[in-house]
Amino acid sequence: MGLTLGEGGTPLVKGPRMSARLGFDVHLKCEGLNPTGSFKDRGMVLAVGRAEEGGARAVVCASTGNTAASAAAYAAHAGLEAIVLVPAGATASAKLAQTRAAGARLVQVNGTFDDALRLARELGERDGIVLVNSLNPNRIEGQKSVVREILDQLGAQPDVIALPYGGGGNVTAVAAAVAEAGATTKIVVGQAIDRARTFASAIRISVPAHAAKVEQLVDDGRLRVVSLSEAEIRDAWSRIAREEGVFCEPASAAGVAAVEQIGAAGTVVCILTGHGLKDANAVDSDDGETVDATIDAVLEAVA
Ligand code: F0G
Repeated sequence: MGLTLGEGGTPLVKGPRMSARLGFDVHLKCEGLNPTGSFKDRGMVLAVGRAEEGGARAVVCASTGNTAASAAAYAAHAGLEAIVLVPAGATASAKLAQTRAAGARLVQVNGTFDDALRLARELGERDGIVLVNSLNPNRIEGQKSVVREILDQLGAQPDVIALPYGGGGNVTAVAAAVAEAGATTKIVVGQAIDRARTFASAIRISVPAHAAKVEQLVDDGRLRVVSLSEAEIRDAWSRIAREEGVFCEPASAAGVAAVEQIGAAGTVVCILTGHGLKDANAVDSDDGETVDATIDAVLEAVA
């Protein structure tokens, strides 16, 4: 299978200011540096590659935006059609732009992500069309690579890996990879209290597709699920950029917000799932003061 856009190999960045504030050793796994700007590419390359090998004509997904952009790009590279269903009026514009740019058939569904997923699953039953949401096991298989990279980059197992919990595909992949590596790393996931309406639109999902697996991991003592207020997500998100210069999208900060809420010890790797430019409108739109083109006016503005 030759399909690749250069996914994986993302930086693991130390967070000295965050570590000093929080009292544990923070590392940031910058998944926004994947080809389409999110972790989805790690699994999508495998899901689309296998669909192509199986003779599919098209792939289909429901998405809050990142899966859409990733499916569109990999389908284009493989010469397949991509059919993408998103909740109408609820998807960040940069993600829609990426999806359209790659020539996908973008359909805005009057409903929620959960409605869109129900419809995508139905389409995925048709001849020649393969579902590439994380219900496709190739997605999970591909997303495991993030854990192998973290272990390589750290040269040791972290005490904690923290990440967001939307539909639960990524935590399922991370937990499987931790077990396969023989590591005892604990996993902490952050979810929005207000799942159906959170400003972190990437994780605006009412019914997680992998909820049963997540509950099983909790029962096994390997995973903690932390519920987060909107303010907790927003504060964690803006501090990552201000303290460390790493700009992620709001949903990506949920893992950080979770360890900030419950505390941790030792080495903590926070997986930042998507790039900040994916949802640039979430940033306060104050673009700074406009001044006359004189040194006095500039000095006054920065005083
Ligand atoms: N972070 C980002 C940036 C996401 O886009 C998603 C999911 C998650 C975290 C949650 O991951 O669903 O595996 O628990 N985005 C999906 C999408 C729903 O359509 O792009 P999960």
